[in-house]
Amino acid sequence: MAFHILLPTVLASIKAGVSIIGAGKIAILPFLLAALAYFHYDQFDPENKPVDRKQVDHEYDFIVVGGGSAGSVIANRLTEIPNWKVLLLEAGGHETEISDVPILSLYLHKSKLDWGYKTEPQDSACQAMTEKRCSWTRGKVLGGSSVLNTMLYIRGNRRDFDQWAKFGNEGWSYDEILPYFLKSEDQRNPYLAKNTKYHATGGYQTVQDSPYNTPVGVAFLEAAQEMGYEIRDVNGEKQTGFAFYQFTMRRGSRCSTAKAFLRPIRLRRNLHISLRSHVTKVLIDPNSRRAYGVEFIKDGRRQVVFARKEVILSAGAINSPQLLMLSGVGPAEHLREKKIRVIHDSPGVGQNLQDHIAVGGLVFLIDHPISLLINRLVNLNTALRYTLKEDGPLTSSIGLEVVGFIKTKYTNQSDDWPDMEFMATSTSASADGGTQVKRAHGVSDEFYNEVYKDINYKDTFGIFPMMLRPKSRGEIKLRSNNPLEYPLLYHNYLTDPHDVWVLREGVKAAIAYGETQAMKRFGARFHAKPLPNCKHLPPLTDEYWDCVVRQYTLSIYHYSCTAKMGPASDPYAVTDPQLRVYGVSGLRVIDASIMPTITNGNLNAPVIMIGEKGADLIKYYWLTPTTRKKRGLRAIFNMRLGETCPNITSA
Ligand SMILES: Cc1cc2nc3c(=O)[nH]c(=O)nc-3n(C[C@H](O)[C@H](O)[C@H](O)COP(=O)(O)OP(=O)(O)OC[C@H]3O[C@@H](n4cnc5c(N)ncnc54)[C@H](O)[C@@H]3O)c2cc1C
Ligand SMILES: *[C@@H]1O[C@H](CO)[C@@H](O)[C@H](O)[C@H]1NC(C)=O
Repeated sequence: MAFHILLPTVLASIKAGVSIIGAGKIAILPFLLAALAYFHYDQFDPENKPVDRKQVDHEYDFIVVGGGSAGSVIANRLTEIPNWKVLLLEAGGHETEISDVPILSLYLHKSKLDWGYKTEPQDSACQAMTEKRCSWTRGKVLGGSSVLNTMLYIRGNRRDFDQWAKFGNEGWSYDEILPYFLKSEDQRNPYLAKNTKYHATGGYQTVQDSPYNTPVGVAFLEAAQEMGYEIRDVNGEKQTGFAFYQFTMRRGSRCSTAKAFLRPIRLRRNLHISLRSHVTKVLIDPNSRRAYGVEFIKDGRRQVVFARKEVILSAGAINSPQLLMLSGVGPAEHLREKKIRVIHDSPGVGQNLQDHIAVGGLVFLIDHPISLLINRLVNLNTALRYTLKEDGPLTSSIGLEVVGFIKTKYTNQSDDWPDMEFMATSTSASADGGTQVKRAHGVSDEFYNEVYKDINYKDTFGIFPMMLRPKSRGEIKLRSNNPLEYPLLYHNYLTDPHDVWVLREGVKAAIAYGETQAMKRFGARFHAKPLPNCKHLPPLTDEYWDCVVRQYTLSIYHYSCTAKMGPASDPYAVTDPQLRVYGVSGLRVIDASIMPTITNGNLNAPVIMIGEKGADLIKYYWLTPTTRKKRGLRAIFNMRLGETCPNITSA
């Protein structure tokens, strides 16, 4: 195809980029790159985006609210049953060429694809951020947060799920959920795919190694070995140790759950998808307490649609509890205060909020031009390399190359249940001169200028020590009964002293990591500039670090546990272990909200697993034993560890 024929497409996608991100914020080059990336899909990706229904039908068997990491999976799996008619309602629109390019993911923060949530100002954390508010980025797009995330593929620890089961959630132990990780996986690393029982091929979700690493990334692994850690598949037998990250990418580009689970089935006639459809309420009959439909706004028009069987909330850990409360399910007193008719008093809704935070802004300077300096590495040549060869720096997830799971002194040393994840990146907050990183994280100008301005655009690397099992709990409350008003988000980070200690040890370990021979070889030195609010404390003491962790506190965007599942004996459980909302029939929550405790790693993979298992629970509930058998459902329920799942198709 000649270039001039494609030029209009280039221009169109440049325009699309501008309208998505807002003119004037970034230079033109990334748009050009993204436009180039477009060729790539045009030529190699035969699967188009799903069609947006202009008008939905009156009634469906199932209505799925939210087409994110979990919702996309559920919409796919439920429509495998040809006589089930399913409606997927998503508040956002389609992903873009920009969101496809791994190195550009920071541009998506605070764009039209992001809800743009901010926490209420609190004194315990995020003190370096504008107005002391943490940015809680959240996907508002088909594919949800899997369109904005950094694509790190981490499943969590066996102990997480065994703990869920121990709380009384039958069916959720590690051995029981592992088949659901395997079911969706299409592992592109042939060694992992063939040689272990922990990986599978042929699923919808592509998982691959990064096609590109810097010399810094390689050194990260050497540094880990020097410190005595093993290099291993952290999604396999054991978790403690280091590895190159794996990514939810396909041929070097983002593979969101929309791309993985919805595009291949977009022609199924029993699936209707309605975009830019903001659900405002679940309709629940106050007498029978049965959910029978939802209310939503599309194109400025309020509409109602009915569900014959179930309504499924997959709106994520912020919006699912918000919708429950708006619909009369939540802490009774709070609902009355907001003038909402109480249908079921469920004190756990919006409570128990858990997230992963890391210490942001730990920067190490190096003397060699080998880091991922975006200004140096993003140019027309690398753009071509990306579009034609599907590799090169543009496939880098902003330098996130190596993961490390380590144990601080606050966790059991003889157990393989590390309490700290290192996210090691071959770039840093200062590498882009205080543009995208600062903006995405919401760091204030004063803080940035005082701490980082002197080292703008220098070769650096960064370590994000991320605390895995926080004890502090946040909460989500309604601001008002107006469904379009954002809820009140209280992070409560670091309100439990344990969390401060663990993060402090993480910082110390990160600095030690930078001191290894492997890193020193490049002249690595910690950028130890005292932080504005901590200058009065003696440097390098525990007191000093305890202050530091409250400054550039970085949410890793893993909000969860706000409508936890649990046994009926737990008054704070919002759903039962089949994910059915207590006190209401015909209503489930299936997304990150249902986790009783946050998993030991990044959240996307476990949420996809929850979607897979949730869909099976629905099938198990509604299908007769004969149909179940015909559809291979028995095979999944009885599957032994390591067996590959039969792919259920609608055939
Ligand atoms: C910037 C960022 C980086 C991340 N990086 C990683 C990573 O590298 N690795 C990893 O494992 N995890 C990562 N995560 C976390 C992970 O992506 C999320 O935990 C996961 O996607 C959550 O899935 P979910 O289905 O619960 O919610 P979401 O994927 O957020 O889906 C919820 C969907 O519901 C829609 N919705 C909400 N309210 C309504 C409504 N009222 N009406 C209609 N639709 C509605 C939303 O628009 C959205 O599409 C990251 C997240 C972010 C934001
Ligand atoms: C630490 O972990 C080991 C191995 O799982 C276990 O046997 C031991 O009881 C644990 N110790 C504590 C104090 O929990």
